[in-house]
Amino acid sequence: MRTVIYYFSGTGNSLDVAQGLAKSFINEDVEIINLSTIHIHEFKILSSDRIGIIFPIYMGRMPIMVSNFLEKLVADKSKYVFAIATYGGLAGDVIQQVKTKLKIRGIKLSAGFLVKMPENFIPFFGAIPEAEQQKLFQRKDRKISQIAHYITKKKKGHFENDFFLINMLYSGFIGKMGQKMIPTADKNFWTTDKCNGCEICCKICPADNIIIRNERPVWKHKCELCLACLQWCPLEAIQYKKSTLKRKRYQNPNINAGNLTTR
Ligand SMILES: Cc1cc2nc3c(=O)[nH]c(=O)nc-3n(C[C@H](O)[C@H](O)[C@H](O)COP(=O)(O)O)c2cc1C
Ligand code: SF4
Ligand code: SF4
Repeated sequence: MRTVIYYFSGTGNSLDVAQGLAKSFINEDVEIINLSTIHIHEFKILSSDRIGIIFPIYMGRMPIMVSNFLEKLVADKSKYVFAIATYGGLAGDVIQQVKTKLKIRGIKLSAGFLVKMPENFIPFFGAIPEAEQQKLFQRKDRKISQIAHYITKKKKGHFENDFFLINMLYSGFIGKMGQKMIPTADKNFWTTDKCNGCEICCKICPADNIIIRNERPVWKHKCELCLACLQWCPLEAIQYKKSTLKRKRYQNPNINAGNLTTR
């Protein structure tokens, strides 16, 4: 049995889940692929029996890159396809959105799960205390075991979503409005004098949205708002408006910047 897991991740939560799940498939062939490293025109998956897609929830919806990937995906009906979305508090109906997008491609989503992880949207919230993070990670480990059990048995039909009203308001109205602003939200990033031009932000950006000019990052307005650049900057030199000046950065402790670097 061969499984390919495609992931998108800014601060490592979704990669952490992908790696945890891969470890649970004992004696099986599992490959984990960073979505931002593949070129998506029309994307054909030929060589795996199971396909997994793991990503964070942004404003009750999926990241733009994940959406683009699903819109180009070609896979035959025999594949077992599952999705896992990580989130901080309000999931919306993102699993239903994945199901609908795949249906348009003639692909059936077999199962979809939600995994609650530490919130990383630093313009609103700084990192939660480590003890609280650890509790979420313990819950995440238990959830991964349940998911692995379900997937290994190739069971079908389990789809996790939020409540109907939340979905309508949040994923529907607010999410759709919010997502339109994402690509140019990078105009709110700026750097303090701490920046030393190390280029880590540029190398970690999954959207190839940063160039270094005069030893400082410059954003190109095709942002995913994953916040990887801001959260992983070793000198905490990147800010989002003024709200992040005193906020604690979040990086998933099981992942390091090198794991997410694409260039
Ligand atoms: C732009 C943005 C929007 C977000 N919106 C939501 C949301 O609508 N609901 C939620 O529960 N968490 C939201 N989050 C939190 C992330 O989904 C969550 O922390 C996720 O696990 C991060 O995964 P990653 O570390 O793989 O990037 C948002 C984070 C970002 C950066
Ligand atoms: S990661 Fe931080 S210090 Fe390094 S170039 Fe980017 S902003 Fe500057
Ligand atoms: S510029 Fe920053 S926030 Fe935007 S996609 Fe790149 S790493 Fe993520």
